[in-house]
Amino acid sequence: MKIAIIGSGYVGLVTGACFAEVGHEVICVDNDERKIKALRNGKIPIYEPGLEQLVLRNVSAHRLQFTGSIEQGVDNSEVIFIAVPTPPQTDGSVDLTYIERVAREIASVLKEYRVIVDKSTVPVKTGEKVADTIRRYNKVNVDFDVVSNPEFLREGCAVPDLMQPDRIVIGSNSERALAIMKKVYEPFMAPIMVTDINSAELIKHAANSFLALKISYINALSAICEASGADIEKVADGIGADKRIGRSFLNAGLGYGGSCFPKDIAAFIAISEQIGEPFHLLREVQRINEHQRERFLKRLRDTLWVLKEKRIAVWGLTFKPDTDDVRNSVAIDLVNDLIREGAHVTAYDPKGNQRVQELDLCPGIHLANSALEAVQGAESLILATEWPDFGDVDLTEVRSRMHTPIVFDGRNLFDPATMRDLGFQYYGIGRPLTKAIG
Ligand code: UDX
Repeated sequence: MKIAIIGSGYVGLVTGACFAEVGHEVICVDNDERKIKALRNGKIPIYEPGLEQLVLRNVSAHRLQFTGSIEQGVDNSEVIFIAVPTPPQTDGSVDLTYIERVAREIASVLKEYRVIVDKSTVPVKTGEKVADTIRRYNKVNVDFDVVSNPEFLREGCAVPDLMQPDRIVIGSNSERALAIMKKVYEPFMAPIMVTDINSAELIKHAANSFLALKISYINALSAICEASGADIEKVADGIGADKRIGRSFLNAGLGYGGSCFPKDIAAFIAISEQIGEPFHLLREVQRINEHQRERFLKRLRDTLWVLKEKRIAVWGLTFKPDTDDVRNSVAIDLVNDLIREGAHVTAYDPKGNQRVQELDLCPGIHLANSALEAVQGAESLILATEWPDFGDVDLTEVRSRMHTPIVFDGRNLFDPATMRDLGFQYYGIGRPLTKAIG
């Protein structure tokens, strides 16, 4: 099938590449000329495992191309996906400027029937507004359908998430559009759930809010574990073994970050308030998430006393492993908290160093070239992002390089007993303190 994707950012590019991989002919559109030029030259603007090979393979097979022209995309495709950003506004509500602009642009070049699919995360009822806009701005009264098809891909595993999805949600009020959408997704052989447009839009915000709720639940429990001497990892295993609960997204840590959860939870709160049904529970989810970082800082102060002038090593800057994305990263917020208190922070991230430097996200930070370099002379080490690489570092070498072997593990990557045996004073999240023997 011939498909256009408008917006070649994270979602648009991965979706376009995966559609091409299953045999569709895909045109990715973007109004950023530099990005289009780079993509045409085989340069992928983001780090995502497997994406580069996928893009290069499908470009050489002539199934994937890039353009700056919406008209070219609309003229040559049966289905047009909208995958443009929906950033938050200061009050948490969603800025729909890009969606509205793209709807007008599609309308101005629409000459025959097309299915227009909203893939961006949008408030419930946006599909209706997109359809109204296209109707209003299309001068030749063309027939079209608007469909909602939310994405559920996680950064770091976006390609497998898209190639083997748990489910595909298609919100459509038209049989004609539905038949076309089923053809788009047929090659993925995944369960397709058909709903009305409003329900599909709501599913996305409801799913992300529920996952954030699970994280805040386990983080609130981690505080209770610390106060009572229980171990959050054992508690999470114990409750997660119940199939009704499930173990995933019950990893206690510094809290959730990234470009989706903080934005989507704030947006869902704003939407619920706008429609007169305020979702108070989600405010508590947000509060616990903020509090988790403050609790961690308090533990640092309780242990190290004054943070001013302390040499602190931080491992991990991205919002999660296997990505170079540093947007809304808890690790970055933490580093800035430490710098504000006068600590000397030396950090290392396998993929995030460059972004932090380019965007000057942590003024005053020292960036190291390796995990071992970061801990040289450090008075404590914080693990802020659980890159698997950190699990492979020689901890005996780490201990010998550190000035004082105190480790604060913000993601429970290390085993407390091993750390104790290696001579570290080790603090995990929601775990009893383990002090080195002797
Ligand atoms: C999320 C959703 O999972 C995805 O379905 C949606 O479409 C986009 O938003 P993403 O933001 O890429 O994906 O990452 P995710 O793996 O969900 O992690 C989000 C944050 O939660 C990260 O900061 C991560 O460290 C944190 N997290 C996740 C935890 O603290 N504990 C967990 O158990 C899981």
